[in-house]
Amino acid sequence: MVATGQITFNNLRKVFPPRTETSSPVEALHHVNAEVEPGEFIALIGPSGCGKSTLLRLLAGLDQPSQGKILVDGNLVERPSRERGLVFQDPTLYPWLTIEQNVGFGPKLAGEYREKRQSIHEFIELVGLKGFEKNYPYELSGGMQQRVALARTLINYPKVLLFDEPFGALDAFTRMKMHDELLKIRERTNITMVMVTHDVEEAVYLADRVFTMTPRPAILKKIVDVNLPRPRRRDSTAFIKKKEEILDILNFTA
Ligand SMILES: Nc1ncnc2c1ncn2[C@@H]1O[C@H](COP(=O)(O)OP(=O)(O)O)[C@@H](O)[C@H]1O
Ligand SMILES: [Mg+2]
Repeated sequence: MVATGQITFNNLRKVFPPRTETSSPVEALHHVNAEVEPGEFIALIGPSGCGKSTLLRLLAGLDQPSQGKILVDGNLVERPSRERGLVFQDPTLYPWLTIEQNVGFGPKLAGEYREKRQSIHEFIELVGLKGFEKNYPYELSGGMQQRVALARTLINYPKVLLFDEPFGALDAFTRMKMHDELLKIRERTNITMVMVTHDVEEAVYLADRVFTMTPRPAILKKIVDVNLPRPRRRDSTAFIKKKEEILDILNFTA
């Protein structure tokens, strides 16, 4: 199998036009250059407003860079694609559809429901929701709804999964459980994952490499290799040291 999901950020720059006549343009990203290997897990971390979501939206193809480009497997990212799945903090499920129908919604629109019927069930099982197929979103906890959102994205067999603070609204225990589920899914699927977070612990637990970003204009400040064996222990000395290393980088001086 050929490894897919390689990402290149090439001299990426994003400037937003002024919002009012008297305000100035906002340079959200300043010349971001980086490469992501197929199957890699990258965490994007930095203070609020530094351009993390902007970078993710560009990668999703929801917005265009002002300069530079993003390539996925050598192809220019120009618009959204099912090859690049996006999971937000808010799961945004269709409340009038069951779990099974929510996961099957995309395939149904694409006229692929019959072919994907089996996969819909496999992915519901993979995210740990077997037995909830006929339930409605309101009957599920926040963590379970987020699993549905994940299954709904996985059904497209994406090469790349993009997460914007997906577990930010969950309690600490549910969040830790989701971390392990996500790593399990990655092991099974080998999808490249890029996750925006402001939680250093989450970044160190999940990521192969952590991209640290400075505030506006966001510059990719330093790429930290996490390089800890898995499964990782949050209470190990090496883990705590890695967290401190990243916190030190984020606590930059101007
Ligand atoms: N559509 C937009 N128009 C103007 N400015 C924007 C727009 N989107 C984001 N910004 C600005 O770009 C900066 C980075 O935003 P964002 O990427 O959302 O930050 P983060 O996700 O790191 O908190 C912020 O200063 C924000 O106000
Ligand atoms: Mg954001």
